[in-house]
Amino acid sequence: MWSFAAKYVLLFCITTTNAAPASSLGALFSRAIPDAQFSKFSLMSQFAGAAYCFDNVNGNGKKLSCNSGGGACPLVEIATTNITTSFETGISRTRGFVATDDTNKMIVVAFQGTSLFDKNPEDIITDISIGRVKTNFCGTANKNDGCEIHEGFRNAAIDAQDVVKRAVAASLATHRGYRVVVTGHSLGGAVAALTATLLRNAGQVTDLYTYGQPHLGTADISNFIQSQAPALGSNNRVTHFNDIVPKLPFHEIGNWGHFYPEFFINIDKGTQTAANIQVVNGHVFTEAGNEGTESKFGAIGEVIDGLSAHGEYFGAISQCSTEQPGTKRGLEVNI
Ligand SMILES: *[C@@H]1O[C@H](CO)[C@@H](O)[C@H](O)[C@H]1NC(C)=O
Repeated sequence: MWSFAAKYVLLFCITTTNAAPASSLGALFSRAIPDAQFSKFSLMSQFAGAAYCFDNVNGNGKKLSCNSGGGACPLVEIATTNITTSFETGISRTRGFVATDDTNKMIVVAFQGTSLFDKNPEDIITDISIGRVKTNFCGTANKNDGCEIHEGFRNAAIDAQDVVKRAVAASLATHRGYRVVVTGHSLGGAVAALTATLLRNAGQVTDLYTYGQPHLGTADISNFIQSQAPALGSNNRVTHFNDIVPKLPFHEIGNWGHFYPEFFINIDKGTQTAANIQVVNGHVFTEAGNEGTESKFGAIGEVIDGLSAHGEYFGAISQCSTEQPGTKRGLEVNI
């Protein structure tokens, strides 16, 4: 384990260098998930990736695509979709879309992750607002810590909840029987998890798929989200090898944890298949999956490899451009 100080510095340190190969866990994990579940993970990862595309978060009435530059979402593009509401909302400028998918009979809510260096510095504020605030997200299940949640993620979810609830209700009215599914990568995954919680708390059965999602809080919110499945929808929190973001903010600094199961992609490089996904059944915190997987190159390797792993979920998940097509593109890094 790294020193407290090193971790604290790295928490605010961003680097985008390509990774060197990291260690392999070999055959330590073997349990695979069914192919149908794997296909769903793959499909939803592309919806999460599509939330980075400028066109999809500025595209009411249009079909989802990843034409905004750099992105690829073929599974989304072959489906019959309609963006009913795209949004950028609140002081946090939380971005995403609500879309109907007639092919897969879903109403999809997807949130954009962090876009560095573009015109949305509010994302950074959201990410580093790592104080915790007591909330009413957990209903009466707030026995341990008052349902404390990461302040930035809490604010983003609150900013988005009205527009999302309205759009989901309107879509359901014309698409009866469709499944409501919320997804996102990175920061978008954290906002997705809290949004699914709010929809479920309002009585809406909601499936949740997150990729490289950071910690939300400690025991109460983790236990509460865990307890909502399966009755109020499924929880599918996917992590990849030593992705650093699901380890943030660090467990050692404030007892941050997760809801489980964790669907852990246990290979660093190469094509990710159903056989590579380990189901980790923890409780608030365990090192069995991503949390205990570290780079063999020490703390610096951890950041470099860890950010590289963060971008790889069934393909490059965060490549679509958040900038308006046709405008001069500056350096853009989505994490
Ligand atoms: C897409 O959704 C909007 C808003 O609900 C609706 O007005 C429009 O007719 C839909 N387009 C298609 C092609 O279904």
